[in-house]
Amino acid sequence: MIARRTAWLWVPLLLAAGRLGLTNDQVATGREGAVVAAEPMAARIGLDVLLAGGNAVDAAVATFLALAVTHPQAGNLGGGGFLLVRLADGTATTFDFREKAPAAVDAGTYLRADGTVDEALLRQGVTAAGVPGSPAGMLAVLERFGTRPIAELAAPAIRLAREGFLVSRFLAEDLADAQADLARHPSTRAIFFRGDRPLQAGERLVQPDLAATLQRFAQGGFDGFYAGDTARAITQQMQRDGGWITAEDLAAYRVVERAPLRGSYRGHEILSMPPPSSGGVALLQMLNLLEPYDLASLGWGGSRSIHLLTEAMRRAYADRARWLGDPDHHEVPVAGLIDKEYADRLRRGFRTDRISDVIGPGLPPGAKESDDTTHFSVVDAAGNAVACTTTINATFGAGVVVEGAGFLLNNEMDDFSAKPGVPNQYGLIGGRANAIAPGKRMLSSMTPTIVLRDGKPVLVLGSPGGGRIINTVLQVVVNVLDHGMPLPAAVAAPRVHHQWKPETLDWEPQALVPDVREALTLLGHRFAEKPRPIGRCQAIAIGPDGLRTAVADPRSGGAALAY
Ligand code: DON
Repeated sequence: MIARRTAWLWVPLLLAAGRLGLTNDQVATGREGAVVAAEPMAARIGLDVLLAGGNAVDAAVATFLALAVTHPQAGNLGGGGFLLVRLADGTATTFDFREKAPAAVDAGTYLRADGTVDEALLRQGVTAAGVPGSPAGMLAVLERFGTRPIAELAAPAIRLAREGFLVSRFLAEDLADAQADLARHPSTRAIFFRGDRPLQAGERLVQPDLAATLQRFAQGGFDGFYAGDTARAITQQMQRDGGWITAEDLAAYRVVERAPLRGSYRGHEILSMPPPSSGGVALLQMLNLLEPYDLASLGWGGSRSIHLLTEAMRRAYADRARWLGDPDHHEVPVAGLIDKEYADRLRRGFRTDRISDVIGPGLPPGAKESDDTTHFSVVDAAGNAVACTTTINATFGAGVVVEGAGFLLNNEMDDFSAKPGVPNQYGLIGGRANAIAPGKRMLSSMTPTIVLRDGKPVLVLGSPGGGRIINTVLQVVVNVLDHGMPLPAAVAAPRVHHQWKPETLDWEPQALVPDVREALTLLGHRFAEKPRPIGRCQAIAIGPDGLRTAVADPRSGGAALAY
């Protein structure tokens, strides 16, 4: 499945991977099933479901619910996400359980009288929250493809919430980083703090309210979350603190099953997430732009490869800002954006002697000119594959725990474009397509993706990272398919990121050796001042002999398991 001709090129890369610190827990191989997730206990719970005869969807639901307990930075009941499933019989579909804007908000809600964006209202506390989609999402997925009851799959998560678990170094670090935001909310302090400081590594985190919420959900299904005690806890908090989510918003929440986006790259079929995520569209657009180039012989990490990647990223992110939004509210020219001829047209603007001039969004065919997330992947023994990315947006979301219900609310409203051209917390801009409207889903970058070869999955992957998600997935795909890297190196390899605006290239340590940086400078590239981590990919590769290799990104404390 993988080009081996440039094998020698990734040898230095393997050394870099070693320096990035892949641990024994972060790579696993097996011939039957594999699970990779950002938190080890949740991955283990998913693997146990597979070992007990559950399928990949059962394992995904169990992992999801466990992450809601053990990985509160991003795992959630109070957020949303996307799940891509591809069964061994060829059936493929996606579940969109993205949060929705409450009915009471509109394009003016987050603007001050002088027209500026009130960022605190958009990002912190109850006003930042969209109507949660995750509980409904898990039920929809399970109803369609699961083989085990929700009560059984939720049981390990309920136990972990009730009995507690020891806080890891990673959770302790994230709690310490978010301390000021979390400390503002008494309901959050009550769970994640001991006295006036956040829990530290090795201390026990017990979440009895969350256990009870999970229990009500496991017993009552949709109404066990979107009505009754949990719904009441949410709406009471909204009334007390000035938020907008109502009982009607909760009762009206619906999951949407959408056909996956399909594209091709060097003889592989790519399945990914359609709008309201921009992930699949931008990924396919960039792969289309890159396909004619022989990236393998340019070599990984060379100035020409990075130049071409950047040129592709700039165009896809410019189109993202212009065209992408919730397709149920705004017409999105998806077919045009992922059309190979449109890519041919855009590619004519690429230059090889220097970075192309200031660019704006293109005009794809069919378009009318007018005006802390987490990912896990599962593969089972039958070859069913699940890629799921879920989020409450920022690390610990809106920072506020629903009192009496024990879970954090998302701050997903910031993924809308609150005002055209004004960047959100990831520096992403947008316009009308992603303007706030009642009941609308905010644009996402989440990119759960499955790559197929000859009708069989060869890669199952995704990542958190805000606007950097799409470029993270792109580079892991290119590392494997073009550069022939084994998955551990492909995931660990340092990455770059360009999102059109700002006009600077982001980079991780070791992504740009001095010669390459100098060559790119001569081509006119400008760089972010300091390196920053780009994405945290959780991926599984399936070799031609069926061997599953699961890799948890060394940039986070996840775990890969396989048998
Ligand atoms: O849906 C999105 O694109 C964002 N809410 C994702 C946020 C994210 O990845 C933050 N985690 N690092």
